Formats: sequence, C-alpha cells, structure tokens
Amino acid sequence: MREKSKSIDDENIEMLVRTFYPKVIEDKIIGAFFIEKLGSDIRGDAWEEHLVLLTQFWRYVALYDDTYRGNPLQPHFEIKGLHKKAFVRWLDLFYETVDSIYDENAGRLFKEKSQEIAENFMRRLGLKK
Ligand code: HEM
Repeated sequence: MREKSKSIDDENIEMLVRTFYPKVIEDKIIGAFFIEKLGSDIRGDAWEEHLVLLTQFWRYVALYDDTYRGNPLQPHFEIKGLHKKAFVRWLDLFYETVDSIYDENAGRLFKEKSQEIAENFMRRLGLKK
C-alpha cells in the first residue's frame, strides 16, 4: 500500500476525487442520485467534467486555488428525493476515502470542511430527514 500523504497538494486532491466517486457510483444509498444526473459510466464525458470540477472545488477549499468557477449548492436543488441520510452516507464514504489517502493530520481539513459544507447544504436545501 502507498504511504499516506502528510500534506495536501494538487496531485493528491485529484487522487481523492478520483477515488471517491467510483465508490459513490457503486453505493446503494447515494449512487442513484449521481447516476441519474451523470450516467453510470465514470469514464464518460459528463463524469469527466464532474471530476475535473470537483478537483478544482477541493483545490479551492483546501489550497485556495482559484480556478473553481461554480456554484457549489445550486445543482443540489435539482436532485429529486434527496434526504439527510444520503448526506450522512456521503460523509461516511468521503471520510473513508480521506483516510485511505491522508494521514490523520492532513485528513482533518477535508473532514472538517466537508462536514461544514454538508450541514450548510442540508440547512439551505431544507432537508429534515
Ligand atoms: C448525498 C449528497 C450529495 C449528492 C447526491 C450530490 C450530488 C451531486 C450531483 C448529481 C452533482 C452534479 C450536478 C450536475 O453536474 O449538474 C453535484 C455537484 C456538486 N456537488 Fe454534490 N452531492 C452531494 C453532496 C455534496 C457535498 C457534501 C459536497 C461538498 C462537500 C458536494 C459538492 C458538490 C460540488 C462542488 C458540485 C459542483 C457544483 C457546480 O456546478 O459548480 N456535494 N452533486
């Protein structure tokens, strides 16, 4: 197994994103939300666009890189039937992926930020359960 990263850089952020979404697409609870929008082929164009965008997003959050141009919350308003348990599952899977790539110290930032953002999304989407 490769050694866990002790610091965050462009390359390991890309690895984080490209390790996370293949798990997401396979997941019983949240996979369908993504497949509905982006299709089931992670190598397809829609997915590639999403993976590039999400890599930019996390570089912006973690490294203040300013190439991300988007509105993080907006597309989530269009997802039908989204619920709190889906966000809990999203966070579980994300934490698991973070732990597979980063040591505890470097991973903390992703866990704290994702938790904060997820809570903010849930509140603004008005998700109750
Ligand atoms: C169960 C929870 C979630 C589901 C089902 C979900 C689903 C999706 C889908 C389907 C898209 C693509 C929309 C499109 O291309 O039109 C998207 C975009 C995105 N998601 Fe999520 N998401 C979830 C949670 C999160 C969380 C917790 C974060 C951040 C920590 C996040 C960050 C983003 C960002 C940054 C985008 C791109 C927004 C843009 O267009 O700039 N998502 N999400």
